[in-house]
Amino acid sequence: MAEVDLNRVVRQHLEMEGFFTGFAIRGKTAVPEDSAPRAGSQGAVASSATVAQDSNPPSAIRHPPSTMDAGKELAAVAAEVGQCRKCPLGSIRKNPVPGEGHPKARIMFVGEAPGADEDAQGRPFVGRAGQLLDKIIAACGLRREEVFIGNILKCRPPENREPRPDEIINCLPYLQRQIETINPDILVALGGHAAKTLLNTVRPIGQLRGQFHEYCSGIGRPPIKLMATFHPAYLLRNYSEQNRRYVWEDMKKVLVELGLPVPERKGSQTQ
Ligand code: URA
Repeated sequence: MAEVDLNRVVRQHLEMEGFFTGFAIRGKTAVPEDSAPRAGSQGAVASSATVAQDSNPPSAIRHPPSTMDAGKELAAVAAEVGQCRKCPLGSIRKNPVPGEGHPKARIMFVGEAPGADEDAQGRPFVGRAGQLLDKIIAACGLRREEVFIGNILKCRPPENREPRPDEIINCLPYLQRQIETINPDILVALGGHAAKTLLNTVRPIGQLRGQFHEYCSGIGRPPIKLMATFHPAYLLRNYSEQNRRYVWEDMKKVLVELGLPVPERKGSQTQ
């Protein structure tokens, strides 16, 4: 395993801590307190499709509810992923990582593939990149339970190597079903792999980020807006003020598009 530069890790941590914390929404909360399930586990979140009954907009949770039982469908996808042996990754994983979050989330984050921490826990984005993603979500005035977090691949590639085309081809239908089920207003593609796969393009993330694109979810279905941004792991490796600002600018566009309040840094007039 590569030697860890502890100074670098601590410095990054402190800088990230400083940048993505301290945001607040002036005057109100982003989401009605009772609109999201509290439980943190995938099963509990997916099955408790609590939808805000009050008319307290704006909310990160979509309503009125669709007729499909999204929680059940997501649980069915997760069960299939758990049995999947379409590629060798299914046999070498510790745990499948189907994804987790609110079945009626308006924002769905899509990453690349689970890493070692995710493989160990069976949950997406729980390692260092995940902690940064949590901060980004919190900076947006949201809770992790109010969004859905998934990946292109549901199993960890060995040594965290890049997903192979055959693995993507085998695994993508699970994500497509999750997207179809949740039907989010906005997909946020984290990093080049997710963006290029979902948009079926070879354009680099540097060109794709910062603008809305369209994800085509199938014939007869309206396209879903997709915002591409840098992967949190890329931010950790390239932790410049500029890159953090890019991600924050991208997320602000998402919030504006959804009609959600854009938190401001406490004590500042503009952000
Ligand atoms: N990186 C990803 O792309 N996905 C995860 O779940 C964790 C790290």
